[in-house]
Amino acid sequence: MIEVRQLAKRFGEVEAVAGVDLSIPRGEIFGIVGPDGAGKTTTLRMLAGLVDGDSGTITIAGRDVRTNPDAVRDRIGYMAQKFGLYGDLTVEENMDFYADLFGVERVTLEPLKLKLLAMTRMTPFRARQAAKLSGGMKQKLALMCTLLHAPEVLLLDEPTNGVDPVSRRDFWLILEELVRGGMTLLVTTAYLDEAERCHRVALMHRGKLIRVGTPAELKAQTPGECYEVEAADVRGLRAQLQGAPGVLSVKPAGASLHVFLRSGALPPIGGGEWRRIEPALEDVFVSVIEGANEH
Ligand SMILES: Nc1ncnc2c1ncn2[C@@H]1O[C@H](COP(=O)(O)OP(=O)(O)O)[C@@H](O)[C@H]1O
Ligand SMILES: [Mg+2]
Repeated sequence: MIEVRQLAKRFGEVEAVAGVDLSIPRGEIFGIVGPDGAGKTTTLRMLAGLVDGDSGTITIAGRDVRTNPDAVRDRIGYMAQKFGLYGDLTVEENMDFYADLFGVERVTLEPLKLKLLAMTRMTPFRARQAAKLSGGMKQKLALMCTLLHAPEVLLLDEPTNGVDPVSRRDFWLILEELVRGGMTLLVTTAYLDEAERCHRVALMHRGKLIRVGTPAELKAQTPGECYEVEAADVRGLRAQLQGAPGVLSVKPAGASLHVFLRSGALPPIGGGEWRRIEPALEDVFVSVIEGANEH
């Protein structure tokens, strides 16, 4: 459903997107994870046809974004990082506004609205002003507005940013339901627990996808061994371990540390209790990005 070849975009000196390839089949949830400034938003904006790339090609549902932008726009739903809801309009009025914008016919709109409100469990709030919704509910409303023209592909830019954990889980249950219905989903997130819910994940860094695979593949590919380390003085131990021989990365994890050691390296003596663990995606990404920053 999404085919991207060698996509690139530069802003002056900044190579925001530096040769991205993507191939996403129908029904997949594909996640892009990466630090601020990695190029996630610029990538999505190019896919949505809002910004022209400098080079490369983008095909969505078989249509070229550059030569056939209208056909692509009909088939995608793009939810921007700062989606424009109207605070003084109610939930339902916001939906009507976006339906008009996309030229959705009244006859299809009414049943669709009911369906979306039920799916997101927003029916009781349909008459509430958007400004008075919680963060999680605002994001659900933005998602509904994005779905009104029945897109086949959803591009969601950090849709759960700043939303509480319970609402984030709620939001993901909705996304999973959409995908079961045949939707294809490209989502960016800063939350690694969400990346674990994607079928495949790409790690983006400085405009490039430096790792792509299923969460399990990414964990298996990462060189080195992951340990959880407990110590009385975690901060002191962290300072001591950073840059020590054999240590690939050190990351605080609650009251302990997660440490990647080069394969075969032994835990340094003299500090803390070391326990070998299965790395989480977050450990993998910290390790990969710290490795990439060394070059
Ligand atoms: N309109 C713009 N003008 C100039 N620089 C931009 C513009 N949009 C993005 N950038 C730069 O491009 C890089 C990638 O930004 P962005 O795509 O927003 O990353 P992300 O979404 O991963 O945080 C950053 O260095 C950012 O400052
Ligand atoms: Mg962004």
